Amino acid sequence: MTVTLRPFTSDDIRGVAALEAALFPDPWTAGMFAGELEATGRVWFVAEDDAGVLIGYGGAAILADGDAHIMNIAVSPARRGQGLGRRLLDALLGRLRELEAQRVTLEVRPDNVAAVRLYESAGLESVGVRPGYYGRGQDAAIMWGDLQEATPRPLADSAGELILAIESSCDETAAAVMRGGRELLADVVASQIDFHARFGGVVPEIASRKHTEAIVGVVDEAMERAGVALGLDGALAFRDLDAIAVTRAPGLIGALVVGVAYAKGLAMAIGKPLLGMNHLEGHIFANVFADPEVKPPLVALLVSGGHTSLVHMPEWGVYHTLGETLDDAAGEAYDKVAKVLGLSYPGGPIIAKLAEEGDPAAIDFPRAMMRSGDYAFSLSGLKTAVITYIRHEREAGREISAPDLAASFQQAVIDVQVAKAVRAVGETGAVSFCLGGGVAANRALREALTSAIEPLGVHVSVPPLHLCTDNAAMIAAAAHYRYLRGEHLALDAEPSAREPLDTL
Ligand code: KG4
Ligand code: ZN
Repeated sequence: MTVTLRPFTSDDIRGVAALEAALFPDPWTAGMFAGELEATGRVWFVAEDDAGVLIGYGGAAILADGDAHIMNIAVSPARRGQGLGRRLLDALLGRLRELEAQRVTLEVRPDNVAAVRLYESAGLESVGVRPGYYGRGQDAAIMWGDLQEATPRPLADSAGELILAIESSCDETAAAVMRGGRELLADVVASQIDFHARFGGVVPEIASRKHTEAIVGVVDEAMERAGVALGLDGALAFRDLDAIAVTRAPGLIGALVVGVAYAKGLAMAIGKPLLGMNHLEGHIFANVFADPEVKPPLVALLVSGGHTSLVHMPEWGVYHTLGETLDDAAGEAYDKVAKVLGLSYPGGPIIAKLAEEGDPAAIDFPRAMMRSGDYAFSLSGLKTAVITYIRHEREAGREISAPDLAASFQQAVIDVQVAKAVRAVGETGAVSFCLGGGVAANRALREALTSAIEPLGVHVSVPPLHLCTDNAAMIAAAAHYRYLRGEHLALDAEPSAREPLDTL
């Protein structure tokens, strides 16, 4: 879709007013610029899409003595992060230069990181604060630029902001440095699995203790590796980061707070924005990062040790949870079946390996809720059926074929997930489908979903294996989009699995 930029004409008044009303629900604010549009000494540009819909505008006033003032640059929320703000700004600055303005000033909300960065990228700098400018005690940052001297730098977004992301929601302490949402400069994961294995599952107290021990070293290692990737003389310096992102929900509370407290302290120390991220959004963005063809409307199946849910993302950053497990998560079921068979933790990879040698049709385990007509899952009945089967066979003195049992259990899990995923894709009209979470590493599940969904003309994405289990790269990838939108999320750790993606 092409976007056209052109000077404002009086025919655009209605389009600007409509966009303002959408951007500023407060009628007082919405009408604020109306009188400015046709005043003399003003320079306005508008941006419109193929269909002639106005999707952005920007304006400046020529003042006395070679001074000019940028009044506003606004872009429709759906079109942000595409460089449109920068194009409008360039058009305005170009026109102001032609009109022989020497200097330009503007006010901006200091917490509007995306806007401040946009102006900085055009060579403007912050020179002070205007107290209470926006009312209710909200200050404005004053920015200034010399129009004849300022040589615009490349747009920060395309060069790429540097985000350090931290993930500590479960049993992996992870840190990653990402540039521009696409370039992974460092990706460090310290797994605690060995410490939990002897207990047959994650022990929350051990998890938080291990996060506390590991986090400083893991972040330092990520900054070192990012320094190498950038060809620096040493580690990347914290002050050169543009933002810190951290998983704040959902997960184990004692584990989350370690990452959140560390990230908060760091962000405060270096004066950079802090983005509080949702872990499940991270699992979806592992796909967005790894596969540029993934786009909304999409359906994601998130399957891990803690979650089994089908999520609909109709547009970037908007989520509707279609259904979740009513009891055990898929990974949990794998882990429990492994435990009953006397195998070690985590059971998922072991059961998956055993299943490769077994016959998936050997034992007819229940496919719970396969035809329930909704998107809810239930896995505890399957787990009980497996346990009952084992007990029954042992009592009868029969040898159990672990490969057949593993393959039959796995097939029961896969059949239900594929059936629900296919239905979700059809019902939502999704163009992409993606898989996420630790169980997404399961080859049989990946293949079954791909061969069921691809023929429907839907793009299927399964993340590379290192992005399936918990990591910080996926958190950084999700943070990129929130950063571009200038969002700062709530900052406290939130253990509830029920922080719905839907509310993001
Ligand atoms: O996403 P993740 O690393 O941590 C959570 O957020 O839970 O997922 C871990 C889960 C464990 O239950 C593990 O058994 C399972 O993912 N898992 C697998 C496989 N690899 C890991 N399950 C089935 N097949 C696999 N290949
Ligand atoms: Zn996870």
